[in-house]
Amino acid sequence: MSSTWGTERLSESTTVVIFGASGDLTQRKLVPALYRLHRKGRLPENFSVLGYARTQMTDEEFRARVEEGVRRYAGASYEEELWQSFSQRLHYVAGEYLEHRDLARVAERLDALEGVVANRLYYLATAPAAYEGIVRAIGEMGWAREAHGWRRIIVEKPFGHDLASARELNRVLHSVFGEHQVYRIDHYLGKETAQNILFFRFANAIFEPIWNRNYVDHVQITVAEDEDIGHRGRYYDQAGVLRDVFQNHLLQLLALVAMEPPVSFDADAVRNEKAKLLKAIRPLRPEEIGRYTVRGQYEGYRNAPGVDPESTTPTFAAVRLYIDNWRWKGVPFYLRSGKGLARKVSEIIVSFQEPPHVMFPLPEGLGIRPNLLALCIQPHEGMHLRFEVKVPDTLSETRSVHMSFHYEDAFGPGSLPEAYERLLLDAMHGDASLFTRSDSIEIAWDLIDRIAEAWERSDEPPLEIYRRGSWGPPGSEKLLEQDGRRWIHSCGAKFHARAED
Ligand code: BG6
Repeated sequence: MSSTWGTERLSESTTVVIFGASGDLTQRKLVPALYRLHRKGRLPENFSVLGYARTQMTDEEFRARVEEGVRRYAGASYEEELWQSFSQRLHYVAGEYLEHRDLARVAERLDALEGVVANRLYYLATAPAAYEGIVRAIGEMGWAREAHGWRRIIVEKPFGHDLASARELNRVLHSVFGEHQVYRIDHYLGKETAQNILFFRFANAIFEPIWNRNYVDHVQITVAEDEDIGHRGRYYDQAGVLRDVFQNHLLQLLALVAMEPPVSFDADAVRNEKAKLLKAIRPLRPEEIGRYTVRGQYEGYRNAPGVDPESTTPTFAAVRLYIDNWRWKGVPFYLRSGKGLARKVSEIIVSFQEPPHVMFPLPEGLGIRPNLLALCIQPHEGMHLRFEVKVPDTLSETRSVHMSFHYEDAFGPGSLPEAYERLLLDAMHGDASLFTRSDSIEIAWDLIDRIAEAWERSDEPPLEIYRRGSWGPPGSEKLLEQDGRRWIHSCGAKFHARAED
């Protein structure tokens, strides 16, 4: 039996085994996040990473490749000396994912790295088509058994392509792992600003009493990106915006904003409430899809590499949903997301009702604007509350002003960690609160499938081509206009407490 340190085998070790270690995700997100955790002294003792992929590389070549990623994506936190100590923890084996001979070489390397108690976190960072085969291979190798240390698996999104494939993936996972070992990642849940939604709602007493149909007029959730699909054409053209971000990020944000308070912060308590909320979303009926959904595609999308020149895949969508429960009955939730838009911003706007009666003699043509709460997920992370004040030195003119909180001002620059740091650490600690449970995944797919299938079957709503750098197709504005509302942009720029004209 080999050992890592001298001749004595370690008593305990933790290894992250990354399948797909030569890929983009490993370089851009996973290794930079692990490096930052190392820098903060948060990694367990005797920690190693074992990268596994088809590309032939030595340990040294793998280290050099991911170092480039850390330099580029870990920003100011890259330090030569720290990198040297961290990189010694990185190892690599090249091989086929399903080839037992190659997997046996992985086993040998693991044996050399691991202690008597060997904790192992598998990370599926390959193309999604490889997930099921790898899970089965892990099962065949006996690598999911928790005899001496825990075994867990992180599954990257997309988790399936529709409800049927997500169910099948869950079935395969459950044939090898227990649900307590499975961590389905949605990196939005790792963002501080998304985590803060529950703290904001339930660590304060003043917001929850008005967080319901009696005070809230409607809610808007936007995940906008200025970038296009880049080199991801092959994947994206099969997925489209509904599967890429609505099924996961947008519905998860919606669940956080709208769910009931869990009894505790325990993973199951939180995830039970989330699943309950998702279940309460009223599925759109086929005859409503033309009117309450919008699909768009940015100009030039069809010329991107990997994209069908006649593709009708949407790169923009907007949807109006209702939640059928006591708290939200009748309150519309408008969700939108797209690529190639005016700017990158993810925000949630809670728009409150107008005062029932305005007693002020306002100047001709001026009304009172409703209060708004903007939760800025990114950038300029923080929140603002918009309310009306009297303009000084006027008789009865009002103006909107904002009370604002920004992480940067309150906690200093660089106070926000990358989502993957928290998620990787939680998985190592066995805390699944910020990961998606199988039931939520399936409920979310059911909602999205109904829209995606209706879009595939019919021309309603029409696919609208939109200008790059715009806020999407005209239909998006119309979706809200038909209800007498409009989209609100609040988090795009760093906010200053200036009165709004
Ligand atoms: C990913 C999607 O899940 O989220 C991408 O696949 C999208 O298409 C990305 O660009 C957005 O994440 P973020 O953190 O940049 O908002």
